[in-house]
Amino acid sequence: MKRFKSFFIMFFCISILSYGQFKLSPLPFKYNALEPYIDSTTMYIHYNFHHTAYVNNLNKALEKHPELYKKDILELIQKLNELPADIQTAVRNNGGGFYNHTFFWTILAPAGTADMSIKLEQILITNFGSLDKFKAEF
Ligand SMILES: [Fe+2]
Repeated sequence: MKRFKSFFIMFFCISILSYGQFKLSPLPFKYNALEPYIDSTTMYIHYNFHHTAYVNNLNKALEKHPELYKKDILELIQKLNELPADIQTAVRNNGGGFYNHTFFWTILAPAGTADMSIKLEQILITNFGSLDKFKAEF
């Protein structure tokens, strides 16, 4: 009986976590991976509280119009005025927060683990003379 209860609780939790189209993607690095530039508490809060809330609230807003679960987040945001009026504000706020946080995780990387694009490097050299001069400015 105890095993059954444990299984039921686990199944219930997984069902809740996987409800809706939009998901909380795994953070691609540890919370402390960006220290000393961004501390682990800040990362934890943004991921577990902000991003999670945006995902849950976005999915909750779309419950009223489940056909919208099929749409991509950019399509929802870019065509906000075409959405039912009763969810436009919720999709703008929570869809925007969802997109921003999802994007945020993809542009961050622990020091020394990502290469600068050639295009950015050329722009910095053009504007500062060299990468070392750019770094010296900051
Ligand atoms: Fe945040």
